[in-house]
Amino acid sequence: MAPSVAETVTQAATDVTSGVTKISLKSDERSAEDKGPSYPFYYPYFDVDEKFPPTEIFEISDVGLRADPAKPHLLLEGVTKKHLSPYIGTELKGVQISQLSKEGLDELALFVAERKLVVFREQDFKDIGADRQIEIARHFGPIQRHPTSGNVKGYPEFHVVYRDADNNRFKEYVGGDRANLTSWHSDISYEKQPPSTTFFFILDQPELGGDTIFLRLTTASPLNSKKRLEGLRAVHSAVPQAEFSRKRGGPVRREPVETEHPLVRQHPVTGERALYVNQGFTKHIVGFKTEESEYLLKFLFDHISKGADFHVRAGYEPGTVVVWDNRVTVHSATPDFSDKERRHAVRLTPQAEVPIPA
Ligand SMILES: [Fe+2]
Repeated sequence: MAPSVAETVTQAATDVTSGVTKISLKSDERSAEDKGPSYPFYYPYFDVDEKFPPTEIFEISDVGLRADPAKPHLLLEGVTKKHLSPYIGTELKGVQISQLSKEGLDELALFVAERKLVVFREQDFKDIGADRQIEIARHFGPIQRHPTSGNVKGYPEFHVVYRDADNNRFKEYVGGDRANLTSWHSDISYEKQPPSTTFFFILDQPELGGDTIFLRLTTASPLNSKKRLEGLRAVHSAVPQAEFSRKRGGPVRREPVETEHPLVRQHPVTGERALYVNQGFTKHIVGFKTEESEYLLKFLFDHISKGADFHVRAGYEPGTVVVWDNRVTVHSATPDFSDKERRHAVRLTPQAEVPIPA
């Protein structure tokens, strides 16, 4: 069961060392046979005194716009390509993200926009060092510094996802009493400029399970009403995430924002129209009464949760890097693995244009 608020606050208060609040990460209690994370550098770091200024709007042109559609710098000779489903997802082998030229990275943006999700296998990305990892991700846009999650000391660009036998922040956040822990969302959609080409690399993975499920929200999701949804706007809120962090004594590095986005947005490169709504952050349809908004959002969330025909699973092996376009997809963790196992991964989240209304 998730600890009560009182328990987490006590936990946080007793764990304060050198001005850094280590919330509920009980590494000291690790069993003797557990050697700890393979990449301790990326162990989640929470400093309650870390503060960021409000974000400011920036100009950006998607790098996919200048990519060669044939992708000669990405789909090199010897690269194997396996589509995971007709609608979404491709697995690539035989190409190293770390070796791609500027042109290759542009083509990666285009390829991810087209396939929505690309699973790169056998990558050296996790071993190339923080500065180079950030440099590559920054090619796609300024990297978001997460207001509440674990990051890496000195590297607020990293969003760390971590679970082991003693720490299960995800379950606490989603809710320990839920019958399932599926939680469809598009990352940080509350930002004024939400993310595009998003990188997620695995450091420790369970023997089996811990996949991410991804779902496409462009034309493959056949809503006749989508045309009627165009013109509507919805509020995406960072408030619950900030409240969760505050309650457990964690950081709120930037005051939470609530942002209106178009309910149907247009992709700047492919021109595709995507439903831009997610259970994680979308709270209200602008201009609707409470009941109207709840009714429509419930319908859209149901549409997503039942969309097994336009979703895929991405599984992790050592060296896997998953890259997806957060503008046209939602995803969820599947925390189905043993409580005793460790899962440790890092996300780099470049921000994109202010969403373009369809
Ligand atoms: Fe996510």
